[in-house]
Amino acid sequence: MSGTCASASQPIDIVLVVAVAENGVIGRNGTLPWRIKSDLQYFRSMTIGRPVVMGRKTYLSIGRPLPLRTNIVISRDPAYAAPGILVAADLAKALEAARGDALRRNADSIAIIGGTEIFKQIMPQAARLVITEVHARPEGDTYFPEIDPGLWREIERRPQPKGPDDDYGFSFVTYERRGAA
Ligand SMILES: NC(=O)c1ccc[n+]([C@@H]2O[C@H](COP(=O)([O-])OP(=O)(O)OC[C@H]3O[C@@H](n4cnc5c(N)ncnc54)[C@H](OP(=O)(O)O)[C@@H]3O)[C@@H](O)[C@H]2O)c1
Repeated sequence: MSGTCASASQPIDIVLVVAVAENGVIGRNGTLPWRIKSDLQYFRSMTIGRPVVMGRKTYLSIGRPLPLRTNIVISRDPAYAAPGILVAADLAKALEAARGDALRRNADSIAIIGGTEIFKQIMPQAARLVITEVHARPEGDTYFPEIDPGLWREIERRPQPKGPDDDYGFSFVTYERRGAA
């Protein structure tokens, strides 16, 4: 991802960052259905220095604030709080806080990191999808929304070798919204 800086007049892109199996599965029983250490490193490189926005259940599955990123957690529970995170009561408030943080950090994008509930609601506003395509079809209970080829154009695909700490092979795939400047 480019290190382009944002200015007050420049739009800050909303980018969905997710690992998706070939059957659309992203989660099972509140956690990931695989262990792919190489992808955790990629996730880090795609999100460091940017605000990260997530649903409360995804935050629980991670279990701690992600370092070097402003963690914005969306919850309808007005009493929800945890050290090291900002809690937003709805999507609009989360995006407003993320945009302010991105401007302060000179970041060019906001990373939306799940889960399904959040992806579904924010996908219509996203500029890019940064996807780790996991070459497996595991059982699961949470899915990534369908990527409509009429709306999204694949602009990059990089197959990755399966490392010693990776359950499956995978590819880094980027989609851009069609018609985007
Ligand atoms: N493969 C991947 O890359 C990846 C990435 C992320 C997550 N996951 C997996 O996905 C699963 C979790 O996803 P999920 O869809 O079940 O949950 P989620 O999207 O992480 O969180 C859902 C929660 O977010 C809050 N929320 C959602 N929409 C809201 C709105 N409009 N306004 C206010 N609050 C809102 C609610 O919290 P309250 O109940 O507190 O109101 C809701 O219960 C886990 O298995 C996780 O491991 C996988």
